[in-house]
Amino acid sequence: MKNNKYSSLFKAISEQTALPDNAVIADLGCRDASFLLAFQEAFPDKIKSAIGVDINDKDFKRVKYKKPIKLKVMNCAQKLEFEDNTFDFVFTKDMFECVSDKDFLVSEIYRILKPGGAVICVNCDWDSVVYNGENKELISKAVHAYAVTKQPWMDDLDSWIGRRMYGFFNQNKLFESTVSVHNVVETEYKEGTFGYDLSCDIAWLYKENTGALSEEEYNEFIENLKTAQANGQYIFSKPYYICKAVKL
Ligand SMILES: C[S@@+](CC[C@H](N)C(=O)[O-])C[C@H]1O[C@@H](n2cnc3c(N)ncnc32)[C@H](O)[C@@H]1O
Repeated sequence: MKNNKYSSLFKAISEQTALPDNAVIADLGCRDASFLLAFQEAFPDKIKSAIGVDINDKDFKRVKYKKPIKLKVMNCAQKLEFEDNTFDFVFTKDMFECVSDKDFLVSEIYRILKPGGAVICVNCDWDSVVYNGENKELISKAVHAYAVTKQPWMDDLDSWIGRRMYGFFNQNKLFESTVSVHNVVETEYKEGTFGYDLSCDIAWLYKENTGALSEEEYNEFIENLKTAQANGQYIFSKPYYICKAVKL
């Protein structure tokens, strides 16, 4: 996770991660396991076994992983296929918003954690994403429309998931919970950045005829970003809420 767009976020996460020796860890909604690999790199002598699960395996081959990492297809909206008190550490990033019964998933994470084990749950608050550019109304419309428009593969969608996660873990007093926010800030509009990639994803709104943003509006949105970049005024910022909850 060095020298890529996730570096600063992973640093903020790993600073809050404390693993015991021979730690057994899991990543729920791991996609290509890149965060599991980053944990392995950051804590090379601590991890005994690591399992990444995702509802589909289409990205499992994208990253080279080896022991102690295993990957498995699993639907985290259902009872997790793990024994009680299995894990020292559970990580999950940008997956909770896809699951409709969040309280059930929290109870499942509680069940599979060992007493004293910790979960770190990281979520972008999509409705708080910021781009600078001339046309405030249009830029806000594009960001908000993308945040609140459910894509077909999602079981659920909550554009405020970042600010809500702490409450999901804290409300039942089963965990000792803390929360912090890591803001990713970019000042260049170029390929490979969060801001550039998100601006490309937003095209989905007109390509799929969602009615949330027209092609003309999308093109003007992109022009706004390019102009801001050309004038040295481009800013993109994205808040990641990092919720840490320790099983009592
Ligand atoms: C936005 S991606 C985040 C991937 C990865 N955690 C990361 O941050 O790089 C969401 C991931 O959650 C997975 N996912 C969505 N719903 C899921 C479910 N019910 N059970 C397991 N994985 C799920 C998706 O397949 C996808 O890989």
